[in-house]
Amino acid sequence: MSIKTATLNGVATIEIARPEKKNAITGAMYHAMGAALDAAKADNAVRAVLITGQPGIFTSGNDIDDFMKRPPGEPPAYVFMRALMGCDKPVIAAVTGAAIGIGTTLLLHCDFVYVSDEARLAMPFVSLGLVPEFASSLIVPQLMGNVRAAEKLLLGDPFTGADAVECGIANAVLPANEVVNHARRVAERFNALPPGAVRDSKTLMRRARAALAAETIAVEGEVFGARLRSPEAQEAFSAFFQKRKPDFSKF
Ligand code: COA
Repeated sequence: MSIKTATLNGVATIEIARPEKKNAITGAMYHAMGAALDAAKADNAVRAVLITGQPGIFTSGNDIDDFMKRPPGEPPAYVFMRALMGCDKPVIAAVTGAAIGIGTTLLLHCDFVYVSDEARLAMPFVSLGLVPEFASSLIVPQLMGNVRAAEKLLLGDPFTGADAVECGIANAVLPANEVVNHARRVAERFNALPPGAVRDSKTLMRRARAALAAETIAVEGEVFGARLRSPEAQEAFSAFFQKRKPDFSKF
């Protein structure tokens, strides 16, 4: 199974574990992650959720083969992202390495983000002929302003954990061998706090932007779905698997 789950000392851990494909996330993995989040939300013994990856790789994002073959209808990423946005318990991310595409987008919906000093983050949607998703077109410019958002969302420039801290995406950068333990220690602090007050406070912190985020996700989803079938995206996906540079000169 490429998603491992475990609950220990009040913390439900969701570990992305498909290192042979750089932790690319398939439909089945999104479903497993969504189910794990829903189970954590329902379990009174769980006070916080920890999302992590493998040494050197958090996730290379959506499985590009799945992108190429996606049937019409709601993409499986929605199952996971809906559960993440609907989780009223604190969610802590330990970014163990590269976090690409949805690997960075999902961080925008976590409560605490700790990044390995070896990690690079990137949202290369445009390079793939796609557009930002899950309210990143709203949240990224809000967090860092339009001009820095343009570097990350239009050019798809990769950025370091230190940049992510400076932009307000992450809390702190840690040595690679400490990032998971540090994130776990933060998660375990919720064992000593009143869970109802934590849940209500988290819900209040997200209330003001929830409606706008939902509306943005719906609009992004329409455009994203159309772009997935575009010749630009098909050229980008084929180029990735053929290990060559895409050629957009004909569009
Ligand atoms: N979807 C499907 N397969 C993926 C993948 C993805 N998102 N990311 C990596 N893989 C596969 C590769 O095809 C390769 O498979 P192979 O061994 O059968 O050839 C394997 O994982 C290893 O990847 P590789 O590219 O050789 O590793 P690398 O260390 O040189 O580079 C990355 C690592 C993460 C930088 C690179 O794989 C990458 O850029 N991946 C795609 C990122 C992306 O664009 N994601 C979508 C964002 S919307």
